[in-house]
Amino acid sequence: MAQPSSSSAPLPLPAGGSLRGRVQVPGDKSISHRALLFGAIACGETRIEGLLPAEDPLSTAACLRAMGVEVSPIAAGAVVRVQGVGLDGLQEPGDVLDCGNSGTTMRLMLGLLAGRAGRHFVLSGDASLRGRPMRRVGAPLARMGAVVHGRKDGNFAPLAVLGQALRGTTVRTPVASAQVKSALLLAALTAEGPTTVIEPSQSRDHSERMLRAFGASLVVDGPGNTCVTVQPGAPLQGQSVVVPGDISSAAFWLVAGAITPGADLTVENVGLNPSRTGILEVLEQMGARLTVLNRRDVAGEPVGDLRVQHGPLQAFSIGGELIPRLVDEIPVLAVAACCAEGTSRIHDAAELRVKETDRLAVMARQLGAMGARIEEYEDGMAVEGAGALRGAELDSETDHRVAMSLAVAARIARGDSLLHRHQAAAVSYPGFWDDLQRLSA
Ligand code: S3P
Repeated sequence: MAQPSSSSAPLPLPAGGSLRGRVQVPGDKSISHRALLFGAIACGETRIEGLLPAEDPLSTAACLRAMGVEVSPIAAGAVVRVQGVGLDGLQEPGDVLDCGNSGTTMRLMLGLLAGRAGRHFVLSGDASLRGRPMRRVGAPLARMGAVVHGRKDGNFAPLAVLGQALRGTTVRTPVASAQVKSALLLAALTAEGPTTVIEPSQSRDHSERMLRAFGASLVVDGPGNTCVTVQPGAPLQGQSVVVPGDISSAAFWLVAGAITPGADLTVENVGLNPSRTGILEVLEQMGARLTVLNRRDVAGEPVGDLRVQHGPLQAFSIGGELIPRLVDEIPVLAVAACCAEGTSRIHDAAELRVKETDRLAVMARQLGAMGARIEEYEDGMAVEGAGALRGAELDSETDHRVAMSLAVAARIARGDSLLHRHQAAAVSYPGFWDDLQRLSA
């Protein structure tokens, strides 16, 4: 494994070699964003251990600082302290709020800012984020009285938010999206009257868990926990938050361990919230040698260590309510599918087309360059397994999860690969290339 470079030169990814050892993945990205945001609008200090020191949470912290919130420096191993300004204490920023590459930052921020009456906010981000749909948040917020303007009928950033006094309502969301749900829950905190969000199936529930821990009045019910109601008015109190390792980052090692001959990896301290563990169910369906060790509860979230060893794999078939529980793991599952016996099928995953990139098209294109036989569907793909991949010139196309998925694929290819724009990994896992090198040793 060549030394990663910070230049724009492509990264050589040699084929072959095994992967062995223990690894701690960085903090959960979803929980990190929420700890910063909820800490900002709480009263008193919030202390965050294990916060993900990566580009996306840095974007959230920068936006909060621009609105007068004191957030201590974010670095690997640092305990981060947020001095809360209370539910309505955010100041009007003097410049555009830059959300970088982070959809979670922009969407949750829309919910948070919509109810800041009399204040004006402009949100923007990088080229990828400016191409991602935002009306899915703006439209239900408008039913609460929010005023959000954007390009193409309010769908694309830059977005202007003219803060209003909001009223509670009941919203049925057409897709299960934790970003949309969380934006509405944030807006609901200061609306007049209760707000209920009903999802078609449950998306990740970190907001519900953490808001309740901060003191919000929130009830979850309905079939499969799909219905969340917030009663406004309860003040939030600063908390101590411990962020577990991100299962979406662990996923790269889980698949790498399962497909790389001779591999034996243990990923420590991984968040095992049931709304996130779809990947474990798929690996089980494939017959992967996977063991969950040392299950425990840390600050309201289930956590464990995951050991994975190489072994034969069967094709999988996924769709429906499982998809929101593994939505970010589909790129690396496409890599796993290339190594399984039989044809794997992914359906009901059209959401992947509006992530940081169109992940269905990008994975089909990049794995296709390695010789994978993939048929793309509008809402998924079919991947023929057990055909050997070959080394190729690859490109993350700026997507962090694509970069790391291709790195996993390149190891088991015949012949070396080159990866363009590998730096994208820093969005969620800045130490990925170092960990890869260490586990290869
Ligand atoms: C996230 C929710 C998911 C996920 C994203 C993080 C969150 O997006 O893909 O990486 O933190 O709420 P959607 O809500 O669009 O499904």
